[in-house]
Order: sequence, then structure tokens, then C-alpha cells
Amino acid sequence: MSSRTGSSARGRAIPSALSIYLQSKTISNLSVLCEDPLWSSLRRRLTVVFTSHRLRALHSLTADKCADLVHRIRNEIQQNTYTDLRVLFADFTTDITGCASFGLGGEATLTGHSAMRRVTRHFMAYSMLRGLCWSSIFFCPQLVDVFGFSLFPESATKYFKEIFRTVVEKRGGYDRKIDEPKDLLDALLKIRQESLNDKEEISEDILVAQAAIFVEGGFDTSAGAMTYAIYELAFHPEIQNKLYEELLEAKNQYGVEGLDGNVLAGLNYFNCVIKEVTRKYSSMGWLDRIASQDYRIDDKLTISAGTPVYVNAIGMHYDPDYFPEPNKFDPDRFLPENEKNIKPFTFMPFGEGPRSCIGKRFGLQTVRYGLAHVLLNYEIKPVPDAPTPSQAKIEKRGMFLMPGEPLYVKYIPRCIT
Ligand code: HEM
Repeated sequence: MSSRTGSSARGRAIPSALSIYLQSKTISNLSVLCEDPLWSSLRRRLTVVFTSHRLRALHSLTADKCADLVHRIRNEIQQNTYTDLRVLFADFTTDITGCASFGLGGEATLTGHSAMRRVTRHFMAYSMLRGLCWSSIFFCPQLVDVFGFSLFPESATKYFKEIFRTVVEKRGGYDRKIDEPKDLLDALLKIRQESLNDKEEISEDILVAQAAIFVEGGFDTSAGAMTYAIYELAFHPEIQNKLYEELLEAKNQYGVEGLDGNVLAGLNYFNCVIKEVTRKYSSMGWLDRIASQDYRIDDKLTISAGTPVYVNAIGMHYDPDYFPEPNKFDPDRFLPENEKNIKPFTFMPFGEGPRSCIGKRFGLQTVRYGLAHVLLNYEIKPVPDAPTPSQAKIEKRGMFLMPGEPLYVKYIPRCIT
């Protein structure tokens, strides 16, 4: 299995269904954006947008939203009304991905509402048409072009284009010289300027599509990881305490303001907890590729070029040969002394190879910030009669692995900040 995975990951880059799906929302002519040379050029240019150096520019936005998140939970405790974790964290991640990508601030973390949140809420809702679009995109992509399927209503596309134009104009237009991009939007504008110098025009439509991809590819996946992390921690006080001690030590050393992306990324146990969450709850349970050349597995089986290949990532995450007692939430599997024994290509929460998740660092950064602030301010406990993590239902109709029922926890304020 690992060799097949390795081979597909290393083979010629072919658009995965997720990228087709993500890109189909804002661009009507799907085939144009998925054409390989354009994908390669964009991917190469966009990769630099997500370096830790660039992501540092998002510190104050993310820290502000964390303060809002802590505040929102405080209000909920006072009013004794609680929001489903997935919704709460999607409010938070929508603000961050929306503001970073479109330069437009939102108040969803604090209030649950914003113009961008209306769009992402629509994305989270299921309908028959939506199911048909998804099935076509994944299993019969030819139909996408034939029927002009688009997962977003015209209004969302229009909204994305309008705010993009407005913010670009406010920032001084397309020709403004950008030395140090302050967010993903600036980075996109810089990419356009550089592409013009290279005589390769990247149109406004493509820029808007990319910004929309950042929001849509990032808000729900990151919110899902936060939801399951908080829910598992509520049921595992010993793991929560250990993590809290690590976070507290970092906070005492660097101060709340000093808890930036680099500091949080360097916390060993925190990383183990997040990896274990993404093992148990990989938002994309499977990866898809198309064989670029005939690939011989053994005497009996050769995958011919052009064959769609689905990699059951979550199946491997739950295979006891790779992860003993797979249903157990056990961050220790990822301690350095244990992680080195994990077989290559059996843990792939962000995919693998040239088509792997481009927003991995951004997603992880958002998740780390949000979790750190919640856990430093509140002890998390299960609410009475709540389903345990393994009893909690899974959403059966959605594209991502998400809870199929609202999940709530109890927050006990800690005496700090
Ligand atoms: C915890 C958060 C996230 C998880 C678990 C996740 C997971 C994934 C996975 C499994 C894939 C498919 C990779 C493959 O086929 O090998 C993917 C692709 C992708 N993700 Fe993420 N993602 C997350 C956050 C983000 C964020 C924040 C962004 C946006 C900035 C993003 C943008 C994308 C894009 C654009 C692709 C398609 C890449 C391509 O085909 O070139 N993701 N993600």
C-alpha cells in the first residue's frame, strides 16, 4: 500500500478532486484552472505564501480573534447558552481565513454573524443538489462541465468578486508596490505583479478563486480539528492537564503576546495532541489521484494509466497494524521516540506529494492559536449525558469528516489573564 501511495504521490501532478472541487466554485470554466501548467505555476507561486515567515504577518489578526473567542465563551457561560463546538470554531476560522484572504474583517467569532460567515454557513449546509455536485466532482468530473455545476450560488461568487475588488482598490490598486505582504491577499497581489513581469498573466478571476479556495479549503477543516480536539480533551482530563501544563509554561516564559506561531509550533506535547486528533479525525478521509503511467503492483495487478486511484487514508489511520488500539485517543504515539516507528505514508491527514494540502501550516497555525487560548483560559469538561467521542455521530452526507450532531462541553474558567 505504501508503495502505491508513494508512487501516486510522486507521480506526475494531476488535479485531485479536492482541488477541482475547490476551484470550481468561483471559476465557471473549470478546465482552464485545472490545466496542469497553470496549476503548477500557481502552486509554485502560492507555496511561498504559506511559509512560516509569511504566516507571521497573521499574528495580530489571529491573536485578536483568539481574544474574541475567549470573550464569546465567557459570555456564553454568563448567559448559560452554549454554541455547538463546530459552529463556534467555524465562526472563528471564517474570520481568520476570510480576513487573511480577502482583507475584510468580520465579527463572527464574537457574534456568530458576518457577511463571510453567511457564505461559509451555506457551504456547511447539505442539499440534494449539493450532493449531486459533490458526487459528480469526485466520481464523474465530466458532468461538472456539462451541467455547469458550481457549489456556490451566483450570489456567493458575486460577493467574493465584489469584496476582492473593493479591498484591492482600498489598498491602492493592483499596481501598488508590495515589499512585505501583510496577509494572503497582499501575497496574491504580489504574485500577480511578479507573473506580469514573467509575461504570464494571472487574471483577477484566478486571484479571486485562490482567495475563495483559502477560505473554503481552510475554515471547516480547521474548525473540525479544533472541535474534535476540545471534545476529546474534555473526556481525557489527564491529557488535558499535561497539555495545559505545557501551555502554561510557555505562557509564563513568553507572555500571552509572545505565544506566536513559532512558539506554539515548538511545543512538543501540543503537536502530539494535534497529530492524534488529525489521525482519528482526518477531515478528508481519502485521497484521490489518477495514475499517470502504468504501475505494476505484482504479477496479478497492474494499474493502467488513467485509472482513478482512491487512497483510504483514514483506513490506514485506523489499521491496528499501523496504529495499535486505533480507537484510543493516545497522543503519545507521536512522541519522538514512538513516531519514528510509524510507517511512512500511513499517516496522511494533509495528503502527500505535490498535491498535498497547501494550507497545512496556515491551518495548523490557526488551530494551535485557537486551542491554546481556549485551554489556557478554560478547563474543559464533558456535559452530563453527552456522547463519548466514539459514540458521537459522524456527518454522513458531507464531504469532510465532521460531527453529525451538535457537540457541547462545559467550560470552567481558569484563574489567569
Ligand atoms: C486542519 C486543517 C486542514 C486539513 C486537515 C486539510 C487537509 C487537506 C487534505 C487531506 C487535502 C488533500 C491533499 C491530497 O490530495 O494529497 C487538502 C488539499 C488542499 N487544501 Fe487543505 N487542509 C486543511 C487546511 C487548509 C487551509 C487552511 C487551506 C487554505 C489556505 C487549505 C487549502 C487546500 C487546498 C487549496 C488544497 C488542494 C491542493 C492542490 O491540489 O494543489 N487547506 N487539504
